[in-house]
Amino acid sequence: MTTLSLLRPDDWHLHVRDGASLASVIGFTAARFGRAIIMPNLKPPVTTTDLAAAYRQRILSALPAGSRFQPLMTLYLTNSTDPAEVDRAADSGFVHGFKLYPAGATTHSDAGVTDLNRIDAVLERMSERGMVLQVHGEVTDAHVDIFDREARFIDQVLVPLSQMYPKLRIVFEHITTRQAVEFVRSARAGIAATITPQHLLLNRTALFAGGIRPHLYCLPVLKTEPDRVALVEAAISGDPRFFLGTDSAPHARHTKEAACGCAGIFSAHAAIELYAEVFDAAGALDRLEGFASHFGADFYQLPRNTDRITLVREPWTVPGHYPFGTHEIVPFRAGKTVAWRIA
Ligand code: NCD
Ligand code: ZN
Ligand code: ZN
Repeated sequence: MTTLSLLRPDDWHLHVRDGASLASVIGFTAARFGRAIIMPNLKPPVTTTDLAAAYRQRILSALPAGSRFQPLMTLYLTNSTDPAEVDRAADSGFVHGFKLYPAGATTHSDAGVTDLNRIDAVLERMSERGMVLQVHGEVTDAHVDIFDREARFIDQVLVPLSQMYPKLRIVFEHITTRQAVEFVRSARAGIAATITPQHLLLNRTALFAGGIRPHLYCLPVLKTEPDRVALVEAAISGDPRFFLGTDSAPHARHTKEAACGCAGIFSAHAAIELYAEVFDAAGALDRLEGFASHFGADFYQLPRNTDRITLVREPWTVPGHYPFGTHEIVPFRAGKTVAWRIA
């Protein structure tokens, strides 16, 4: 098969930043996806429905002319989130979840939640209103090995959280381990996970191939080959609890090629194409549409898209960099080939 027609996919985990940077990257996503869940970790974070409304307008204004792309907004949970904000968000029609960043876990998470007890009333209200909780699932204890932080989070936080709020719908974002796959498979109803292209394509050895590779550094960090294999099995399984979320997270080149480089991989320029490589290599191209275009919409209780995109198996070379506001970004696979392109 050299061409593949898919119902238009959606990206259920995306960072587009703001201002001139937003204008540089949003077109890549809008060319491929119908909708995307927009992460709220701006500086300062998007903590209220009013801030999300303004951010949503900035995204719509930055879209290429004629685009029908829809940003789906999320709010950033803090220790002082007001339970009434859940009602404002649910009533808005454009906020589709609240994001839990354990304080200090990842890029721009310093305003995140330090103790889940602090947001008990918010989580209760979210359960009542059917609002989705998106979770960056890593413990933040500096003594826990960085490769163990996700697995530790499952036992310490996710299991108790899912039992304490049995109706709360939770997306375990950007899962990276075999343990996360097993947790989702054995979890109660209402729990799902997103998977990125980099965690399906690479293991942690890639971070050090011939020297340190700052453009392959993201959080949660790449894991072992058995972890990667478990993620691919989950993605291609047809299990609707696993769906597409790129976590495309652009950072200016100089902030990654630095003594202390930022976490985040930019993949929006080739997102669906990279997933097609994974499914193709696994002999599962027939399962890509479920993962990319059905299961996320179903979980978020939104209609599936109705138009289609076509992918062609024809290699192209990714540019070494793209503009990013007044800076530049180095995209995933820079200078190398991607096996599929969008028609
Ligand atoms: C994300 C970012 O840069 O905003 N970085 C990352 O490495 N994934 C934050 C996140 O999703 O954790
Ligand atoms: Zn994250
Ligand atoms: Zn992210």
